[in-house]
Amino acid sequence: MKAMVEDVSVNIIRLVLCRLEGKVAVITGGASGIGKRTAEVFAQHGAKVVIADIQDELGHSVAESIGPSTCCYVHCDVTDEDQVKNAIHRAVETYGKLDIMFNNAGIADPNKHRIIDNDKADFERVLAVNVTGTIIIYFINYNLCY
Ligand SMILES: NC(=O)c1ccc[n+]([C@@H]2O[C@H](COP(=O)([O-])OP(=O)(O)OC[C@H]3O[C@@H](n4cnc5c(N)ncnc54)[C@H](O)[C@@H]3O)[C@@H](O)[C@H]2O)c1
Repeated sequence: MKAMVEDVSVNIIRLVLCRLEGKVAVITGGASGIGKRTAEVFAQHGAKVVIADIQDELGHSVAESIGPSTCCYVHCDVTDEDQVKNAIHRAVETYGKLDIMFNNAGIADPNKHRIIDNDKADFERVLAVNVTGTIIIYFINYNLCY
């Protein structure tokens, strides 16, 4: 009975760990923080990863540390539709498909305690990255990707 329980446990763990095996993911904002760690964990679990970010030096070095056969970097500002299309093309060209789009890129400006100290341009920039930038993928014609 104990052996059977151990077998079942091992199979469950294997199933969970293999869920990303063979998957291809684009991770925006993958050069640092949560995105970087996600890229590392995805790769450890068998996924191919495209890091899409605006910090080129950092992005290249993270991709290099994960491993060139598993991960690559592409410059991509998520507020620019063409650059997002390019990141998707890069995933399909390099790894043959796209399974996962992790829209993680985001910014936070320094706190300004009084609302009148904020200006409209700052507000629009945050919205462009944190809101439009996370759903821009859905505005892109799907025929382009597949
Ligand atoms: N860390 C937290 O506690 C926390 C809490 C709530 C939400 N979040 C959200 O989670 C996400 C990741 O947070 P984090 O703490 O890892 O932040 P982070 O600043 O470490 O990483 C964000 C990454 O996004 C990239 N980025 C910024 N603007 C970009 C753009 N226009 N195009 C492409 N990439 C861009 C940055 O270069 C950076 O690599 C963000 O969207 C953030 O708002 C974080």
